[in-house]
Amino acid sequence: MIRLENIRSATGVAVKDPSDARQWRLQRLGDAALVVKGEEILWHGPRAECPEEFRSAEVLDGRGRLVTPGLIDCHTHLIYGGDRSDEFNRRLQGESYVSIAASGGGILSTVRATRLLSEEELADLLTQRAQAWLRQGVTCVEVKSGYGLSLEEELKMLRAIARVQREFSGEMVSTFLGAHVVPPEFAGRREAYVDLICEEMIPQVAQTTLAEAVDVFCEGIGFTLEEANRVLQTAVNEGLHIKIHAEQLSDLGGARHAALQGALSCDHIEYLNPIDVPVLAHQGTVAVLLPGAFVYLGETQKPPVEVLRSQGVRMAVATDHNPGSSPLRSLCLAGTLACLHFGLTVDEVFLGMTAHAAAALGRSEQLGQLARGHKAHCALWSVEAADQLFYECGENRCSAALIGEEILEWTLNEERRT
Ligand code: NIG
Ligand code: FE
Repeated sequence: MIRLENIRSATGVAVKDPSDARQWRLQRLGDAALVVKGEEILWHGPRAECPEEFRSAEVLDGRGRLVTPGLIDCHTHLIYGGDRSDEFNRRLQGESYVSIAASGGGILSTVRATRLLSEEELADLLTQRAQAWLRQGVTCVEVKSGYGLSLEEELKMLRAIARVQREFSGEMVSTFLGAHVVPPEFAGRREAYVDLICEEMIPQVAQTTLAEAVDVFCEGIGFTLEEANRVLQTAVNEGLHIKIHAEQLSDLGGARHAALQGALSCDHIEYLNPIDVPVLAHQGTVAVLLPGAFVYLGETQKPPVEVLRSQGVRMAVATDHNPGSSPLRSLCLAGTLACLHFGLTVDEVFLGMTAHAAAALGRSEQLGQLARGHKAHCALWSVEAADQLFYECGENRCSAALIGEEILEWTLNEERRT
């Protein structure tokens, strides 16, 4: 058992109904203590109120840093081969994401690069990226497949994720995204590809437990509403969680249908019709906002944040890191963008990458709060207050993670402030 002292802390706390964003607030403590036994948080609160029973614990010195729950990046495509900097340049010269995709580039270009790599090579790339996330305070990262698009290639991606999962000191959550786009082998036979997803891929994913959720890209360049419904219903029948890329470039109604089928989250949702928001609220579905893709694609249509807020829908914020629409390598920067472009407050962003991101991954009871019974996965920041996390950008302020009873430290290029 350890007691972390000489810390400030910040964590979300639910006042009443945790599925209603309006019931959450950010608790900031100036002189806090955190007690951990094994993997689990036993106590968190003002140091002066630490119960007698924890006074005998070994003391770890937090050196005046801010302790938060480890951040959670609940939507990434962190495993892939190649890069698409050429397309970045083409888009800057006027080509659109959709026209590049239609000419065989975009997601399909990453599919080609990913298929060329072995399971081991993919695992190496993912390990490096996951370490970079951890060093920025992200102790839980969701990773989607979706650049394989055949049974073998999708399983290869998922097995590579599973390898890295076993070694990663934080938590890695694997999502199957076979329904990302229709692969070239099925051009003109899209129904046959959806058959393959539903009849072979999803059952194998469920049987091998290589992913815990199924995602689908419901969009003009992805899958129709009917196809998405079929994929998600198959996943539900197989006992898997579901989520959806919906209303990113147009309004197909995907978010409403996915929410009604019990989706943990609806992601992107710039074009979500406000009349669908009560459905998300009623179903307790998390709205995952992805400002990286919004900015990189030069979008102007913003998600209906004010309606989501007033209806009490929990909003999460994630990087959507991928080599095309969002090559963003900083979750805190995604937070800054969510503040500047979507009008979220610092408190909303904080909750959006802790408690509400945990909900988007079905882990509300285990991750995202400094609370008794939660996993001791925390980040230590060289900042004075939580407000600073999304204020400056371009520099990492996380200098350590607490994983269980152990502090993992690394060196920051720190400017000494007096
Ligand atoms: O979330 N929208 C679909 N999928 C990704 C883009 C993937 C890519 O461009 O490679 C996204 O933005
Ligand atoms: Fe995505």
